[in-house]
Amino acid sequence: MERLKIAIQKSGRLSDKSIELFEKAGISASNASSRLLFASSPDFPIDILYLRDDDIPQCVADGVADAGIVGENVIWETGQQVEVAEKLGFGKCRLSLAIPRDANYNGLQWFNGKKIATTYPNILKKVLADNNINADIHVINGSVEICPVIGLADAIFDIVSTGSTLLSNGLVEKEKMVNSQAVLIKNEKLSAAKQEILDKLLFRIHAIHAAKSNKYILLNAPKAKLNDIIKLLPGMKSPSVLPLADSDWVSVHSVVQEDKFWGIIDELRAAGAQGILVVPIEKMIL
Ligand code: PRP
Ligand code: ZN
Repeated sequence: MERLKIAIQKSGRLSDKSIELFEKAGISASNASSRLLFASSPDFPIDILYLRDDDIPQCVADGVADAGIVGENVIWETGQQVEVAEKLGFGKCRLSLAIPRDANYNGLQWFNGKKIATTYPNILKKVLADNNINADIHVINGSVEICPVIGLADAIFDIVSTGSTLLSNGLVEKEKMVNSQAVLIKNEKLSAAKQEILDKLLFRIHAIHAAKSNKYILLNAPKAKLNDIIKLLPGMKSPSVLPLADSDWVSVHSVVQEDKFWGIIDELRAAGAQGILVVPIEKMIL
């Protein structure tokens, strides 16, 4: 049987989250103890390749891997031809211009004539051109954040997520230029059999995403107020209503969107609901 090869980051910001996504989808991807280069999932026709994130777009474009999980920033930088199958909502970060804390910053023009260290020269080139800045790009392979300290550059252009790397190197983020997050990419010419496996994976990922943005809600409602309360609850089809020992009351179960949740709770209480329970949903198949 055909198997789908998916490349993920061997070690870095996206590694654990990528493995966690597979685990939630019922695909064992972890060989965490050994971190071999290759893991074969026994319960789903997927093989995992652990690679350096910078190599993932090219591997997928060349068909060495069929799909991959990587930051958009890496795809843009490498300029490889791959298709984004799904935005994954984790690994959110931005590419920012940062400068030493004590520098006298006066806006974007500060960067004119300065030397900027980065591992993202192609994205930086475009950012500078778009903003009419003439700066010297210093390409470096890692530890960009120490460049200003050791006098290798005046500023850096790098990924900022929590900001702690900048902070501990005496740098301040001045301009947020590009936002990025982890995406699932695929080769542009997947065989039908491989596409079918990918579709199954995507189906599971959609169920995980839907579950994450929804909560299961249970509450007790006085029968007399049931109609008012039901109107407040959209539910997947309509709420379930179950009898309680006290025949004047019923138990109502439904699903609410996380972002509408607090607003709805207040209205439900005002309408007479009691004993409201809100619980997380594991998977949600729409
Ligand atoms: C980025 C970047 C910083 C760090 C910033 O590295 O180079 O080192 O993350 O994160 P923070 O704001 O939370 O401190 P990344 O994990 O993408 O790895 P790589 O550049 O080595 O591939
Ligand atoms: Zn990298």
